[in-house]
Amino acid sequence: MFNSYLTLEDVDVANKRVFVRTDYNVPLDEFGNIVDDTRIRETIPTINYLIDRNSKIILASHLGRPKGKPDPKFSLYPVAKRLERLLGKEVKFAPDCIGNQVEEMVNSLKPGEVILLENLRFHEGEEKNDPEFAKALASLADIYVIDAFGTCHRKHASMYGIKEFIQPVVMGFLLERELKYFEKALVNPQRPVVAFIGGAKVSSKLGIIKHLLERVDKIFIGGAMAFTFIKAQGYDVGSSLIEEEMFEEAINTIEKAKELGVKFYLPVDFVCGQAISEQTPVIEVAWQEIPKGWMGLDIGHASITLIKEILKDVQTIIWNGPMGVFEIDKFKTGTFGLAHAIAESPALSIAGGGDTDYAIHKAGVIDEISYISTGGGAFLQLLEGKVLPCLDAITRGE
Ligand code: 3PG
Repeated sequence: MFNSYLTLEDVDVANKRVFVRTDYNVPLDEFGNIVDDTRIRETIPTINYLIDRNSKIILASHLGRPKGKPDPKFSLYPVAKRLERLLGKEVKFAPDCIGNQVEEMVNSLKPGEVILLENLRFHEGEEKNDPEFAKALASLADIYVIDAFGTCHRKHASMYGIKEFIQPVVMGFLLERELKYFEKALVNPQRPVVAFIGGAKVSSKLGIIKHLLERVDKIFIGGAMAFTFIKAQGYDVGSSLIEEEMFEEAINTIEKAKELGVKFYLPVDFVCGQAISEQTPVIEVAWQEIPKGWMGLDIGHASITLIKEILKDVQTIIWNGPMGVFEIDKFKTGTFGLAHAIAESPALSIAGGGDTDYAIHKAGVIDEISYISTGGGAFLQLLEGKVLPCLDAITRGE
């Protein structure tokens, strides 16, 4: 499916000025420290490949949403420092991403040297896909590499408009890996395939559920979303979160699963509290037994046993969304239980989406999941069957 796109290995990068568009939009704490550097680490193979070939490497990214003007809070300087540690070599840092000073810094790069440009979103032109801005970026390089999978759903200048001003535009190793795993999970999967979809609202996941129903053999809906499905069938769920306006869609989804022969699962028990807080008293009950005034905030142990049963024969696992409010210790068991069950399964497992990624890290099973996507919105769009517009920018081969 993506085989025709040119990759880094299809072009001669030796001694060339190579611009790599990365997604270093990493979470920062209140002091500006990087909380999770996965997105930086995952670009190291691309950068090392270019260093080994004596390219002059120009890295660029956005960070946060600075609204088109410089804001020190969103400077990429901490990312340059982290890159230096990860690469074990100097990473120069440009105070802007276009302009005379940047051009001079780029032109003085020696083969194998690396420079990181300041946040692309400090210019309005980036999000507006302004051709002048794209042209100025393109003028810095000979070859353009897109390795920012997490930004492929944004038609921005450095991701999309750029193709009008520089050729070839090729995929970096991170992007190539993301698309390869996506194909393995959803285009040509080993069957049976199961999808675990969690999160609070059916309305935000309906597109994904509908798209996956056509492609999987089993689907498990967890998180607060499950209550909309239970209530829509006429059962009581105490004070649990529901979306009444989604009842019809929920029923249609169950019917559609039946029609397609997809095994449709909901949790069979819940950990309930009286408030979303660490202090609330907690009970664990079967789904039929949620008392008035109590809300389900996690799936229970019987549901984890059910998940292990579901996993017994599957070859491919897709996971997006937590099973409960895992940020609160009392309600983390379900999400962590799912993470561990997937980790123990020999099936190919693909997980992604902001919360899911964080949950996997907290559960301590990152090395046991076959692939964790670096994308948030971009990963969700792929799961929903949408085309990522920026893939259009990539030059195709024969
Ligand atoms: C992401 O984290 O999903 C990407 O970096 C895109 O960021 P954005 O939602 O601010 O465009």
